[in-house]
Amino acid sequence: MQIAVACSYEAMSEIAAQEILKTVRKKPQSVLALAAGSTPVLVYEKLGRFHAEKECDFSKITTFQIDEYIGLSTDDKRSFFQFFQKYLFHKITLPLHKIHTPRGMAEDIALECQRYHEEIVMSGGIDLLVLGIGSNGHIGFNEPDDFFTAKTHAVELSEATRRANSRFFKDLDDTPKWAISMGIEEMMHAKKIMLLASGTGKASALAEALTRDITPKIPASILQFHQDVLVIADEAAAMRLSADIITERII
Ligand code: GLP
Repeated sequence: MQIAVACSYEAMSEIAAQEILKTVRKKPQSVLALAAGSTPVLVYEKLGRFHAEKECDFSKITTFQIDEYIGLSTDDKRSFFQFFQKYLFHKITLPLHKIHTPRGMAEDIALECQRYHEEIVMSGGIDLLVLGIGSNGHIGFNEPDDFFTAKTHAVELSEATRRANSRFFKDLDDTPKWAISMGIEEMMHAKKIMLLASGTGKASALAEALTRDITPKIPASILQFHQDVLVIADEAAAMRLSADIITERII
């Protein structure tokens, strides 16, 4: 595991965007699995700029959203699908059939999870998985639990997660209670994983995930088992990491 600490959110986003650029230049048909949320916003904006400036052609990539709220349609502005439309897909003009999203309005959610799992398998495997981390250590919407869930599944969101995400909704009551998330095994099969963390609110979760025992109580801790993980944290998120585990400092 490589752990890079960047001097700012901007620097963290630049390294992450360059890493994605490298992956897509090497393999234009790359399969990318992407997190929504505030953390990667600037990364996706930078990819849009790379595309506009013809530094890289993203039109051949395939994307998988790692999670979605249950009960929101794909045209709901608060859905993660719309998040990606806004920050990425509009800019890189990706054809719809290359964009994979769990459908939060599916009538049969169990069947939808199965369908999504099959799409991941059929894609031939994820080349790069871009993750954020919840302040309770969640990745995607894999919440702290007594066990890891392998495949795409429906999750009842914890109160902590709903509170954190209520900023995108009217209030806590309006915030969805359930979501669909890619499972841990599907994530761990990705060839490379990049975990981004920004801000003091992520410092404890990040330190626990990287330095404590692997446990489903801190879902991100499973990443310690993966052979190719790049963690990029800004200084605020890295403040609880001891100097000896940091592999690089980026100014
Ligand atoms: C959200 C999403 C995750 C995201 C994480 C952190 O709820 N389900 O995919 O990585 O929590 O979000 P943020 O970057 O907004 O802090």
